[in-house]
Amino acid sequence: MTRRILITAGPTHEAIDAVRYLANRSSGQLGLHLAEAARDAGLEVTLLLGPVALSPPAGIPAVRFESVADLARLLDEHFAGCDVLVMAAAVADYRPRQAAAKKLPRGAEKLCLELEPTPDLVAACAARKRPGQRVIGFALEDAAVLDARAQDKLRRKGLDAVVANPLGTMGARDIRATIYTADGRVIKPPPAQPMPKADFARWLIEWIGATW
Ligand code: CTP
Repeated sequence: MTRRILITAGPTHEAIDAVRYLANRSSGQLGLHLAEAARDAGLEVTLLLGPVALSPPAGIPAVRFESVADLARLLDEHFAGCDVLVMAAAVADYRPRQAAAKKLPRGAEKLCLELEPTPDLVAACAARKRPGQRVIGFALEDAAVLDARAQDKLRRKGLDAVVANPLGTMGARDIRATIYTADGRVIKPPPAQPMPKADFARWLIEWIGATW
């Protein structure tokens, strides 16, 4: 039975130097709606929240992260204590190999950033889950390849379910989603899509409660 839910939300910031970073367009909105819906459903919610302008919903203590490394540490601390992890954070796939300690000065020469791949956090959680624990990931891809890539992520990362969204979802108010489960189900949330993220969040939390 799902009692304790761990939700990650928002982008990561990967430092280039003392003042600059690499980021993405995630607003964290869906994760915040999920946290709110989970709270309203009576679940015990832990929210790991990235660098976003939005505030966490009332009554939900948020633990803040900036980088992939921060989020990895927080997952080490909080993952074991949850029944379900909902990994809505838009985690960077690459980060600068080294961040300059000072602000890089402007120069006439071109500047090359060397990027290294980040660890796959959700896959690492899925690999160490205990019996009965569930891990849900997200897949944000071009609509033309969304279904195939979402199903590939489900398998490759060892997830129990993946929520697939077309690219336009990031930063938008509405969402169009399909859920693929490890046991082969394909679920389209009612009612008509696209739907406001707040409505989708309530639906997904209900679905999690009914399924696990
Ligand atoms: N994710 C993660 N750690 C990363 C990258 C992504 O935990 N370093 C998680 C995201 O939070 C999301 C899921 O993996 O739940 C899918 O993220 P996405 O960026 O779409 O997947 P990629 O890892 O980039 O997969 P691909 O190799 O197919 O691009």
